[in-house]
Amino acid sequence: MPVLRSIQARFEKEQPFRGITVAMCMHLEMKTAVLGKTLKAGGATIAITGSNPLSTQDDVAAALAESGANVYAWRGVTAQEHHENLLRVLGHKPQLIIDDGGELSVAVHTEQKQLIPDMIGACEETTTGVHRYRALEKDGLLKYPAIAVNDTRTKYLFDSQYGTGQSALEGVMRATNMLIAGKTVVVGGFGWVARGIALRAKGLGARVVVTEVEPVRATEAVMEGYSVMPMKEGAKVGDIFITATGCKGIITAEHFEEMKDGAVLANSGHFDVEVDVRALREMAESSRTARPNVEEFTMKNGRKLYLLAEGRLVNLAAADGHPAEVMDMTFADQALCAEYLVKNKGQLAPKVYGVPPEIDKATATLWLETHNITIDSLSREQLRYLNSWE
Ligand SMILES: NC(=O)c1ccc[n+]([C@@H]2O[C@H](COP(=O)([O-])OP(=O)(O)OC[C@H]3O[C@@H](n4cnc5c(N)ncnc54)[C@H](O)[C@@H]3O)[C@@H](O)[C@H]2O)c1
Repeated sequence: MPVLRSIQARFEKEQPFRGITVAMCMHLEMKTAVLGKTLKAGGATIAITGSNPLSTQDDVAAALAESGANVYAWRGVTAQEHHENLLRVLGHKPQLIIDDGGELSVAVHTEQKQLIPDMIGACEETTTGVHRYRALEKDGLLKYPAIAVNDTRTKYLFDSQYGTGQSALEGVMRATNMLIAGKTVVVGGFGWVARGIALRAKGLGARVVVTEVEPVRATEAVMEGYSVMPMKEGAKVGDIFITATGCKGIITAEHFEEMKDGAVLANSGHFDVEVDVRALREMAESSRTARPNVEEFTMKNGRKLYLLAEGRLVNLAAADGHPAEVMDMTFADQALCAEYLVKNKGQLAPKVYGVPPEIDKATATLWLETHNITIDSLSREQLRYLNSWE
């Protein structure tokens, strides 16, 4: 992760986080550990927990703990343990939060309000978390500034799209060892994550069906050459289903009824609410673990449906998450936004902010430089032409 490494080298000298405790709730795998080490190199004390029960890699958590971070995470935490870990992290009295799903800030705003006066701000990693921060802001409850890191181009164009696109398919392939070519892959949603999944499924030779609720995105999917239809129709034709909407109830009982024998169900949206796993359990006659991360459900008429990774983020639970090349950009944004919050301490209102454009540009510039890619620059005459009305 050369971009983060170059930021780390600067942080080591400048110590922007000296005396500051950073609370992190993130998928605790290799790339996140590099972000933690980068902040620590800048003088921060780190307290971290995982943001999903199946995305923590125990060896990475152990290595990060050994490097001096306060780590409260292991793969397979229960909901109760997850909550206890959030509170343990907040017990370090952080001034900065790096959230993935809004969980730390929701806990601060509900049950740990005594932390609010010292809080400098928060950075949020994913679409679902940004929804929650904006909902807090809309209700007039947000008490400190938050930066929607997810919504900047150097995040969603690369991490959400290409990172999740590749790793979600990888999760399905590692879990099932299925051939994708010739299969019908039904993708729930056509946002940044879902379009990456659709693109990679198409590239592997699948017929891709997209379901949407938003007309412009549905139109984009049609123009990309995908079949667009309601999930009720998609349920009949799909061999593999991958949801990525950030919404709940995308695949439910009425869809399980329609599915073909052997259909595979996976989710790549943040929470495990897109595939109605509880309904699936209730409808099935029996279930068994067919392979690691694959649960086979035998339905009443003998059909078998296969649920991957308990309906949790398949790319992190059944594979290693996004490749380092894209997380290098996302986490550069995170590191630079955390530094921005500290530099502007006390000057930002309690609102949700976009990533400052200069940070987006700095991240992309560093990424190109560290990959030895040079680009053209505008001449003075071109600049004048572009800025002129004449
Ligand atoms: N797996 C990962 O590593 C990873 C990475 C990034 C984001 N995420 C998560 O993936 C989810 C999607 O993120 P995004 O950035 O693509 O969001 P987005 O807002 O760009 O796209 C979501 C799309 O889903 C559509 N949608 C909403 N409800 C729907 C419904 N009921 N049926 C069909 N379509 C529906 C919306 O119209 C929208 O086009 C979020 O939960 C996000 O947090 C996961």
